[in-house]
Amino acid sequence: MFGTFTGNTTNMHTNIDVFVHQGSKGFEGCDYFINEEPAKADFLSELKKGFLETPKVISPKFFYDELGMQLFGKITETPEYYVTRVELELLENLGNELSELVGKNKVVIEYGCGSSRKIATLLRTLNSPSEYLAIDISPDALKETTGTIASAFPNVRVGGLCADFYSSSFVLPREVGGSKDSRLVFFPGSTIGNQEPREAQKFLENIHNVLGVGGNLLIGVDLRKSKDLLEAAYNDQMGYTADFNLNLISRMKNELEIDISRDAFNHLAFYNEEKSRIEMHLVASVDQEFEIDGTKFTILKDEAIHTENSYKYTSEDFETIAVNSGFKLEKCWSDPDDLFSIQYLKAV
Ligand SMILES: C[S@@+](CC[C@H](N)C(=O)[O-])C[C@H]1O[C@@H](n2cnc3c(N)ncnc32)[C@H](O)[C@@H]1O
Repeated sequence: MFGTFTGNTTNMHTNIDVFVHQGSKGFEGCDYFINEEPAKADFLSELKKGFLETPKVISPKFFYDELGMQLFGKITETPEYYVTRVELELLENLGNELSELVGKNKVVIEYGCGSSRKIATLLRTLNSPSEYLAIDISPDALKETTGTIASAFPNVRVGGLCADFYSSSFVLPREVGGSKDSRLVFFPGSTIGNQEPREAQKFLENIHNVLGVGGNLLIGVDLRKSKDLLEAAYNDQMGYTADFNLNLISRMKNELEIDISRDAFNHLAFYNEEKSRIEMHLVASVDQEFEIDGTKFTILKDEAIHTENSYKYTSEDFETIAVNSGFKLEKCWSDPDDLFSIQYLKAV
């Protein structure tokens, strides 16, 4: 949880920590920070709901506790996980072209920042960005990102929002500056791929509302490719992806005191060609019984809990989703091997 803040605290939301800092900077360099971190009770109730489904599911948003963030960082450095490496290379090479397209004094709003690496590259590329708002469900991700950006870019106003961007109550803080059409939403990492295409379209419609006509979206989209490359990326030899997936069981045990054993599950990731998505599952190696919030559950040997989808698109298929959400494609970049793409879209 977050420490004590020494700024003006304004209570605009009930049960939510909000501070707006005037003068010297507050939480990890932030000028304003809003904490809507989901409560433990939300994890418990979403878990119970997901375990009542067939097959059982756990949302991938629960991957990112402190250990999950560390493991994700390690995954991004493995040779097999091309996603981060290729997207960073693309961003580093966009330079003047992107800066001219985007224009001056933009307010950059990042969905699911994770670490500061990509946003630092983007802010360096843009022409005098005026403000940066980092959004993430993970307080640890926000701490690292806002702290690093605030000290590396002293002329940029920095905000933080710890929230679940899938929540129906999700709104941007009123502290965000600039007119709507001066906003650029940055959504890297192909995190959009975690949603079914129909949900992805709705999500982009929400981003369109956040931006208003004239605003822009810069989004990273992972591309369809060979099964071998895809499956290697989600089954790295060091076993970090397996640990990342299994950490969900540790969270259930440690945070919610559910009597379930991590050793009784195995990581499974494969490419479902028909659906064009990587699927991650946790497969039980023995029969198990446990309770979640007073309800008894049984998992039989070989039963799988579905923990993540990661949809892979062609650039054209993703453009269709974006157009159906009210965006127009201004420019699409991809690497020479067509592993990953970045699309620059305008809300019309
Ligand atoms: C796949 S990682 C990508 C991180 C980073 N943007 C990158 O490109 O390497 C997804 C990030 O989104 C955040 N995230 C996932 N689901 C979220 C949600 N529902 N609301 C807010 N943040 C979320 C995670 O905490 C994590 O930092």
